[in-house]
Amino acid sequence: MAQEMTMTTAESVQTLESRHVLQTYRRQPVTFVRGDGVRLFDADGREYLDLLSGIGVASLGHAHPGLTRAIADQAKTLLHTSNLFFHPLQGQLAERLSNLSGLPRAFFCNSGTEAVEACLKFARRYWYTLEEPRAEIIALEGSFHGRTMGALSVTWDEHYRKPFAPLLPGARFVPANDCAALLQAVSRNTAAIIVEPIQGEGGVRPLTPAFAAAIGEACEKSGALLIADEVQSGLGRTGNPFYFSTLGMKPHLVPVGKALGGGVPIGAALVSEEVAARIFYGDHGSTYGGNLLACRAAICVLDELVEGGLIARVAEVGRYFDERLKSIRSKRRIVKDVRGCGLMWGLDLTIDAAPVVPAALERGVIVNRTAETVVRLLPPLVITEADASEALNRLDAALGAMENVENGGQAN
Ligand SMILES: Cc1ncc(COP(=O)(O)O)c(C=O)c1O
Repeated sequence: MAQEMTMTTAESVQTLESRHVLQTYRRQPVTFVRGDGVRLFDADGREYLDLLSGIGVASLGHAHPGLTRAIADQAKTLLHTSNLFFHPLQGQLAERLSNLSGLPRAFFCNSGTEAVEACLKFARRYWYTLEEPRAEIIALEGSFHGRTMGALSVTWDEHYRKPFAPLLPGARFVPANDCAALLQAVSRNTAAIIVEPIQGEGGVRPLTPAFAAAIGEACEKSGALLIADEVQSGLGRTGNPFYFSTLGMKPHLVPVGKALGGGVPIGAALVSEEVAARIFYGDHGSTYGGNLLACRAAICVLDELVEGGLIARVAEVGRYFDERLKSIRSKRRIVKDVRGCGLMWGLDLTIDAAPVVPAALERGVIVNRTAETVVRLLPPLVITEADASEALNRLDAALGAMENVENGGQAN
């Protein structure tokens, strides 16, 4: 009876949504109602190991006791006052982000796409202030920067962009890791180059150190600003605070989001002093941006990442993922490449990765598919080797079932 009730609940959730929620998402038929660490539980009480963390957001896992306490405490004290007044937490969070990134100033917003949008505006404003307006932005093929109009304009995949044209004029794309093409494309008309140090939605593809050096050279020659989008790869995900420093990049602007709030919406544009000196009162704003709740959550996340030693743990568990995923690749014919580091991984398949997602769900593990053939893993940064081992066993079984289908057999 209890089982029947919960099944009805899951069904009614999905029916109600299908009637009243704008249908922009094709969801998996699972209704999650509770989480605990790296585990999620559906409406039927079934347990899943989470290798996705809400697309790289639940950095401390689900229902983290410290984050839960911080949010509850802040909710009891004060949630929001707007940016018309001071509150004690925004400066503290900005200082912490500055220590971590080397970029001294932060502008707070509510999501990754807004952080990118802010960086694009600040790049334009920088050149306007210098009385040398520049509109051209160079982006990379395979890039993803978000869904608002500016971020969309520098996002590669045409199926995201085409229905919303005309977009920002001046966006141009060059192939990732093609040094010659980049150096040729950048000129004194280029306001900024925008890159993801590791392309996430594009299939977990790191930029090469040679390309990072070419970006530096192109910026130096042309004066163009560098925007390193670390919305997905930043804040510990790769086992380093940011992947741009691993590549030796020196960005002027760094959008962050996702992991920063551990699930509470917050984004930030981290800004160099050189750019900050050319931004003025009224140039940008956000009603919610950097409110007390979001800042308190983000400070708690940074406490765990930095003082709690979580970034170093990610590097350690990341080595375990590296080993295990490479052994899966050597065993499974359909896995043609494994890319990534820390807790950001892509398994590039010889087949469409779409059916792997439900096959993994059936076996109690959550992953997603990106760039058609890639199974992407972005586990909570708190995952242990023991949980990772069990989750990867389940994923391996799902890949085995896919291989079986490829060989003309049954999925199970
Ligand atoms: C690199 C990158 N930039 C920007 C975004 C947009 O972030 P959001 O979905 O929080 O707006 C994403 C989202 O996946 C991303 O991966």
